[in-house]
Amino acid sequence: MCGIIAYIGSREASPILIEGLKRLEYRGYDSAGLAVVGDDTLDISRSVGRVRGLEEQLGRETATFSGSMGIAHTRWATHGGVTVENAHPHRDDLGRGHSIAVVHNGIIENYLTLKKWLEEKGHVFASETDTEVLAHLIGELYDGDLERAVQAALREVTGAYAIAVVCAKEPDVMVVGRKGSPLMIGVGSNEYVVASDPSAIVAHTKQAFTLDDYSVAKLTRDSFRTSTIDNIEITPQIRELELDLGQIELGEFEHYMLKEIHEQPTALRRSLQGRLDLRGGSVVLGGITEHARHLATAKRIVFVGQGTALHAGMVGEYLVENLAKIPAEVEFASEFRYRNPIVEPGTVVIAISQSGETADTLAAIEEAKQKGALTLGLVNVVGSTISRETDAGIYLRVGPEIGVASTKAFIGQLLVTTMLAAFIGRRRFLSQEDLHNLLTAMDRVPDQVESVIAQSDQIKTATARYVNRDNWLFLGRGLNYPVALEGALKLKEISYIHAEGMPAAEMKHGPIALIDEGMPVVVVATRNSQYEKVLSNIEEVRSRGGHVIAVATEGDETIRSLCEEVFWVPDVPEPLQPLVTVVPLQLLAYHAALMRGKDVDKPRNLAKSVTVE
Ligand code: AGP
Repeated sequence: MCGIIAYIGSREASPILIEGLKRLEYRGYDSAGLAVVGDDTLDISRSVGRVRGLEEQLGRETATFSGSMGIAHTRWATHGGVTVENAHPHRDDLGRGHSIAVVHNGIIENYLTLKKWLEEKGHVFASETDTEVLAHLIGELYDGDLERAVQAALREVTGAYAIAVVCAKEPDVMVVGRKGSPLMIGVGSNEYVVASDPSAIVAHTKQAFTLDDYSVAKLTRDSFRTSTIDNIEITPQIRELELDLGQIELGEFEHYMLKEIHEQPTALRRSLQGRLDLRGGSVVLGGITEHARHLATAKRIVFVGQGTALHAGMVGEYLVENLAKIPAEVEFASEFRYRNPIVEPGTVVIAISQSGETADTLAAIEEAKQKGALTLGLVNVVGSTISRETDAGIYLRVGPEIGVASTKAFIGQLLVTTMLAAFIGRRRFLSQEDLHNLLTAMDRVPDQVESVIAQSDQIKTATARYVNRDNWLFLGRGLNYPVALEGALKLKEISYIHAEGMPAAEMKHGPIALIDEGMPVVVVATRNSQYEKVLSNIEEVRSRGGHVIAVATEGDETIRSLCEEVFWVPDVPEPLQPLVTVVPLQLLAYHAALMRGKDVDKPRNLAKSVTVE
């Protein structure tokens, strides 16, 4: 997804902008650019491809790019192809000479109408983007006050935006604004660093604030003013960023994904900290305590999310029904938001999201709120939009996740969902003893995950046998069905191998036709309530020549005798099995992607956070 970094202060802007762009690379992009304001100059450089290419290009530019105010952007194409002309920053009409430059994350939905109006006024456009229309609109409305021009322009647009705007005529002013897309302002000593997320800010300052929707901030080198787009002053809340640079540095790992897989035991311990009262036998979730009664008397619980987060919601559906005995379901947020869902009194809608910025998930929450549901957010990024828009929530607390393929955030989503189901269950029919046994087992999971990660080399060897196969199946039953889906998603999104996950029983209803000699079929086959049925599915696969790679409970000699490869996991209670069974599948995907020479942390076409529809 697009990334914004902007700086105004007393230091040279270019190196700060380039360093910030590199910290935002993980969000996914296909082009990059920057603009620096000097003495009545506006120097712009843009390039397709990696930030490193832009940095090298800067060294070849004739312009000086000298100045202490600038804006920069990594673009993930939405309107218009991946070209230099479509890369940001975009500027207003050269003929008008204001030299206004804009970077933007989001979508201006009415850009064609505005473009037509501007063309009738003589504006000429150089790109296919909605952002360039916004730049020209600001230029058209500019009459010597950049803040007013930006406010006026934003009153005319519909859609989502996070923007940073500079003008060569006002070298001491930057104006930023947002609606629906993330934007954070870091407050330094006589300087401000603006970015799409805190990872590009913490190197400069830990004090920051976020803008509310429909608001702008006017930044100078020693002050700021925030207001609505109707110019009503507002006071933002400056807070301490919890992020540390060490959390977002690669350290001794080759890739962020590998680092984050290995971080999972620590991440689980951090997420459990202060939330398991083993002595008293209870789950302590401060963020939802005031809603405990509402949750315990809920008539229906609906999980919404996308991708990996949706898979966690699928586990949540099983656990809420099993532990809390409340009807539950899970929906793609993108489907929930548009199908005019029936939300009767007593419905609770729970959004699961690592970034807390996924547009469809945010929109699903808006739809649920509008229909009177209590909304919760199970989110990782503190202060993210979903965490602020929901009535209450539980932070995952797994630390920043940089790798595009979600790993530790998924296991954090699973853990928090399990704790939530137990929290509600104890207020309904879950006995003290059953809860205590579950919590005691839960407390052991971080160490058990560590033992699974230790099998990485064996998993790599097994993966190598099948890495050249272009079609894989992933099968599971019950709680292991969402794990099978997650394993398939991991493999396809970083190795580009076609992988399909499904309920093991579903295979017989068509997909079994795919199985040919040597086809790799991953089966999550831990000892649980459907184990015997899964054994039958394994036999069905093998009788057609398929090769079964099983995820199985340690010591299961039956599975060992039946399968070509076995990834072993500790024997944990069924509700906790997804926490351990997903780990071998994460490592399988990681190794397969490397063996295929893919960019594990920045897979093609993907963004870390999909903040556009
Ligand atoms: C997971 O590996 C993917 N990167 C993607 O499916 C992701 O889970 C999805 O886009 C939802 O993102 P969110 O958790 O930030 O809302």
